[in-house]
Amino acid sequence: MEKTFLMVKPDGVQRQLIGEIVARFESKGFHLAGAKLMSISKELAEKHYGEHDGKPFFKDLVDFITSGPVFAMVWEGENVIEISRQLMGKTNPKDALPGTIRGDYGMFVGKNIIHGSDSPESAEREISLFFKEEELLEYTSSI
Ligand code: CMP
Repeated sequence: MEKTFLMVKPDGVQRQLIGEIVARFESKGFHLAGAKLMSISKELAEKHYGEHDGKPFFKDLVDFITSGPVFAMVWEGENVIEISRQLMGKTNPKDALPGTIRGDYGMFVGKNIIHGSDSPESAEREISLFFKEEELLEYTSSI
């Protein structure tokens, strides 16, 4: 089954949106395989956002994602990568439609509440950066 990496960013954690965000993915029918509240080291942040290294916002991005706890998650389900990006909405909250997470709660591109993998390759890379194999659980759930 397809898996994706999703992360409630420090702004989402501070604004107490973890439950609301988890509920949206649960309600949609996706299956939670792993989750943890954690701090991100500068080294992990630079690896995770490596593709943005050199961009003008890179330093701010790393500073922000390491500024407080994040809630890291692995979700699974059919087409979970594409559908979770629809549920999140466009990267810049000003373009995200109402009804999406960023459309409902986000204000600025640098503080856009949630991150989600954008392809199967990035999902695999990001899951392995944040989770050990034994932290991902297999269990049955009925929907
Ligand atoms: P995310 O999905 O976590 O992936 C990369 C992040 O970079 C993105 O969300 C935004 O939060 C951030 N980002 C993208 N473009 C800009 C920008 N122009 N200025 C500041 N941050 C940006």
